[in-house]
Amino acid sequence: MSPEEQHILHRTEQHVRGVLAGDSSGHDWWHIHRVRNLARFLARQEGADIFVVELAALLHDIADWKFHDGDETAGPRAARQWLESQQVAEAVIAEVTDIIATLSFKGAGVSCPMKTLAGQVVQDADRLDALGAIGIARTFAYGGHAGRAMYDPDVQPEHHASFAEYRAAEGTTLNHFTEKLLLLRDRMNTEAARRLAAERHAFLEEFHRRFLQEWNFGEE
Ligand code: NI
Repeated sequence: MSPEEQHILHRTEQHVRGVLAGDSSGHDWWHIHRVRNLARFLARQEGADIFVVELAALLHDIADWKFHDGDETAGPRAARQWLESQQVAEAVIAEVTDIIATLSFKGAGVSCPMKTLAGQVVQDADRLDALGAIGIARTFAYGGHAGRAMYDPDVQPEHHASFAEYRAAEGTTLNHFTEKLLLLRDRMNTEAARRLAAERHAFLEEFHRRFLQEWNFGEE
């Protein structure tokens, strides 16, 4: 990576830190930091373009649709604005904004294939941060943020066939495990991510099983 590219990454990091400061929904700066580290690791294993991967990882939640009244174009737009201000080459801007637009999970029945290896790596990294101990903590943090019940035995998990359905869903935090988190392992794009996902998935399954076991204690 050139010194100029390193400067751009550094300035982007400062920018994103500023924008996401104070977030309590599980999409804070430290989520970005972890995704960047995961993405860098995967990029090395898989041979993806590190500059594109790091930029996309840093900017991927800059304006998430969940916090912009469902506007999916807010993220790519904010990323483009920033990258143009940094005189990043158009080809790189186009790839990074395309990754951000395609990245997020849109429901169990909706597939959103990534066009490039860099995109596959960033999507895998973001999904890995939704698994394991961190994934559990983030899911409950987000559920609290969104005012959702932790669990309600009367509310069944749903299979969301479209993004509109997934976006409008009101389910419980525990249902989010079966509606999304436990599906992610089998949706990893890269081999390196599949290896990391296996262990995090097992931990998630164990937590889910124990949660219900404790919840149902004493039920006749
Ligand atoms: Ni994310």
